Amino acid sequence: MKVRITDTYEDMSEAAAEFVIDQIRHKPNSVIGLAAGATPLLLYQKLGEACAAGTVNFARVRTFSLDEYIGLGPEHPQSFHFYFQHNLFDHVNIHEDHVLAPDGMAADVAAECARYGAAIEAVDGIDLMILGIGPNAHIGFNEPGPSFVPETHVVELSEATRAANARFFETPEDTPYWAISMGIRDIMFAQNILLLASGAGKTGALMQAVCGDITPEAPASVLQLHRNALVLADRSAAARLPEKYK
Ligand code: F6R
Repeated sequence: MKVRITDTYEDMSEAAAEFVIDQIRHKPNSVIGLAAGATPLLLYQKLGEACAAGTVNFARVRTFSLDEYIGLGPEHPQSFHFYFQHNLFDHVNIHEDHVLAPDGMAADVAAECARYGAAIEAVDGIDLMILGIGPNAHIGFNEPGPSFVPETHVVELSEATRAANARFFETPEDTPYWAISMGIRDIMFAQNILLLASGAGKTGALMQAVCGDITPEAPASVLQLHRNALVLADRSAAARLPEKYK
């Protein structure tokens, strides 16, 4: 695992955009896994700007959303479908058929997890997985627990995650209880992983991810075992990392 610390959120997002653009230049038909949430918003904006400027071409790129809330359809403003459409896909020249995501409205969620997991396997894995990190060190919606769940699965969101995400909903009760998430194997099989962390709310989680025990109680810690994982963090998220990372 490599760690790179930037002064600001803006710098972190710029470095992340360069990383993603390099990936697509190197492999124009890259398969990219996408995290939603506040952290990658500026990265996605920068990718849209780069596409408009002609410095990156999404024509052959395929994407897989990392997760989705159960019970929110694509038209719901807090669904990750909606998030990616408005924050990324509307601004890049990606082909509609190249956008894959779990269906949070599927009648049979177990079958939907199996379908989605098979779709990831069918493309021969993900080239670049973009991750955020939860304050409880979750990645995707792989919540802390007694064991890692390898495959795409249904997750009951922890109270900590529901509380952290309540800011996006009108009332705390509106925050979904359930989600579909890629599993740890889906994530760890990616060729490259880029984990973004920004802000003081992530200092503890980032410590656990980078130098804590490798344990399913801190799911991001498993990334220490990945051969091509890069952590990009701004100074405030990295505040508690040991000096050797700074
Ligand atoms: C979102 C996701 C989550 C977020 C994490 C951080 O698709 O999988 O793991 O990356 O909760 O969210 P933000 O960036 O909003 O702090």
